[in-house]
Amino acid sequence: MPHLLFARDLVKTYNGSSGSTTVLAGISLAIQPGELVTIVGPSGSGKSTLLQCLSGLDSPTSGRVEIEGTDLATLGADAFAEFRRDRLGFVFQSYNLIPALSAFDNIALPTRLSGGSVDKARVRSALSAVGLTEVARQRPSQLSGGQQQRVAIARALAASPALLFADEPTGALDTESGSRVLTLLRTYASGERSVVMVTHDLEAAALGDRVLVLRDGGIHTQLVRPTAVDVFAAVDNARQGRR
Ligand SMILES: Nc1ncnc2c1ncn2[C@@H]1O[C@H](COP(=O)(O)OP(=O)(O)OP(=O)(O)O)[C@@H](O)[C@H]1O
Ligand SMILES: [Mg+2]
Repeated sequence: MPHLLFARDLVKTYNGSSGSTTVLAGISLAIQPGELVTIVGPSGSGKSTLLQCLSGLDSPTSGRVEIEGTDLATLGADAFAEFRRDRLGFVFQSYNLIPALSAFDNIALPTRLSGGSVDKARVRSALSAVGLTEVARQRPSQLSGGQQQRVAIARALAASPALLFADEPTGALDTESGSRVLTLLRTYASGERSVVMVTHDLEAAALGDRVLVLRDGGIHTQLVRPTAVDVFAAVDNARQGRR
């Protein structure tokens, strides 16, 4: 089966006044269609940076990312914008909702931008899937942080991306909304569609088909269909620098 995403030797360094810092120290990975891959690791281990580089939102200092066989570095800005709009979805911790638009219109926006006609039933079903039917007409400023996060998730899912990147998608959610969102993401990753999710919630991470444990910008451990206990043990080992 061809890879949906293929990354080779990703290095990311930042140059500051006190010298250069290596944030990604040469990461290679592949993601297959239908997979939910979760990424865990201590704060500062490079999880968000990795997600940004895998999704083309940031460029690695060296190394290569291919999605559906396309090397992201070969796409110009316009071609990448189109590719991203048509094939990729993002849920980031800053929700990036448009303040002037209602929850409903925020969800419909990607379809509008790509020139398609908005399927209202699909938008309503996305709102209902995240439990927000009743706030469809409210603007982001009238929503709680958790509600905004769920609108951002509904917006990403409604656009049906082949590959969805999510950074702490349940970070602002209570247990019940969080588990609803996790079920949605778990269900979404099937057939041709994949999800890459960064999380601090190790039980959530254990829903992944594969779990990558990062430490110091490298993949310390990779687990295949682990239990939550396996993930806890691997994260503890990574924290202590044990193998
Ligand atoms: N623009 C930047 N310039 C310099 N250093 C940066 C920059 N962005 C990130 N870093 C550094 O890179 C390291 C990894 O950051 P990253 O955000 O990827 O961590 P993370 O694993 O997502 O952490 P968290 O769990 O806290 O979200 C951190 O030490 C951070 O300070
Ligand atoms: Mg982060």
